[in-house]
Amino acid sequence: MPPKTSVHGSWSSRWAFILAATGSAVGLGNIWKFPYITGENGGGAFVIVYLICVALIGIPIMMSEIMLGRRGRQSPVNTMHTLAIESGHHPAWKYLGIMGVMAGFLILSYYSVIAGWALEYLTKASSGDFTRQTPDGIKTLFSNFIDDPKHLMLWHTIFMVMTFLVVARGVRGGLELAVKLLMPALLVILLVLVGYSMNTTGFGAAVEYLFTPDFSALSWGAVLTAMGHAFFTLSLGMGAIMVYGSYLPRDASIAKTTFIIAFADTAVALLAGLAIFPLVFSNSLEAGSGPGLIFLTLPLAFGQMPYGTLFGALFFLLLAFAAWTSAISLLEPAVTWLVENRNIKRVTATMIAGTFTWLVGILTVFSFQKDSPIIFSFNFGGVKKENGFFDVLDILTANIMLPIGGILIAVFAGWIMSREASRDELEMGEGNAYKTWRVITRYIAPALVSIVILQLFGLLDPIFTLFAPIIDLLSNRP
Ligand code: PHE
Repeated sequence: MPPKTSVHGSWSSRWAFILAATGSAVGLGNIWKFPYITGENGGGAFVIVYLICVALIGIPIMMSEIMLGRRGRQSPVNTMHTLAIESGHHPAWKYLGIMGVMAGFLILSYYSVIAGWALEYLTKASSGDFTRQTPDGIKTLFSNFIDDPKHLMLWHTIFMVMTFLVVARGVRGGLELAVKLLMPALLVILLVLVGYSMNTTGFGAAVEYLFTPDFSALSWGAVLTAMGHAFFTLSLGMGAIMVYGSYLPRDASIAKTTFIIAFADTAVALLAGLAIFPLVFSNSLEAGSGPGLIFLTLPLAFGQMPYGTLFGALFFLLLAFAAWTSAISLLEPAVTWLVENRNIKRVTATMIAGTFTWLVGILTVFSFQKDSPIIFSFNFGGVKKENGFFDVLDILTANIMLPIGGILIAVFAGWIMSREASRDELEMGEGNAYKTWRVITRYIAPALVSIVILQLFGLLDPIFTLFAPIIDLLSNRP
């Protein structure tokens, strides 16, 4: 039988959970990644696919993940173990939890390096380094920075220490306190920035870019990226939300909280787009410039606008805060697992997990250099390119590990757990809402995610060739 409460603590209220889960969800994914992958994948159509994935796959899987966490009340590994046994199945389900812990390590290892960029740019912006810079000047600033491993290491280390300091203090004194202070600040900063961007000449172009879909520009690779991003941005498929769910009071409605979190996360991504793209367009900058997008384009805009030093500093502060509240949730599953299985104190567990992640992060530090020694060349989703360690980690985690973790979570919640157990835990009765959740979780979400992953490896090509004439007919292509 699973324990009634978690030994690690609990949130003080339902709202504390909502804030923490939103803090986990809103991160570099919303402010750094969403704009640049939207830019790389052509805008509106990509945004629509991403929104569909959030609604159809993200929301039901988030409900499942919170539900499993709250029922198991332990680290994701032991939660999966206990719940599998409770439903009379094989305890090997714990490997789903272990894969989640691994994904958390891998994501945090590069996440921390990029969060370090934000910290560096916070200091650059506040010391007026961007003022009246030329595009070339900004480019040099950026490439000199990412080419300098010592500098990157310093910030990577600082960010990991910041993460350690919060996680080591535990659920209420660390995680909850951090999100209560940081999340309201984040919202205010974001609104101020959107307010500014609304008054620039590029605002109309940005709205059109984000919300006018051109489906002919959409590739399979883009669909996969959009789906992977839905998992990434909602922190799904690796146990972060599961472990947060294990601290959730019994009387909170899982469906309602999930809707609030998913809505808030999506709203922040779109608002970030509305803050960033107007600046890109009013300065005739390149929307598709990849991971460097906000570091290459925004400083230029900040360097020219009135009060640019202030707005620039605010923006990178926003980015750092958002990354911080997500990083703690990436480390938490591993920490709880160590505490439970090794019988050590939280501080020691955080130290061990943090040091390990820090070490793996060093590989990302070296992957941005001009002549990086670590280059992989492979063909994914139909695009062949040279990839550094960072790209490999990004594809491996967001496009493969999280979606696979997500399917397994859905399969567990829909097929392994008994109908009574999930109905009790979700407390929605036997009405249509529950039935819809169950159908999506059992059939639709696993099927959609499998299709996209199979296509990643080109396995569905024969089927698509078979249906090509029909698809062409439907999409009106000659
Ligand atoms: N959701 C976070 C973001 O958008 C990243 C994250 C992924 C956090 C997985 C926890 C788990 O930046």
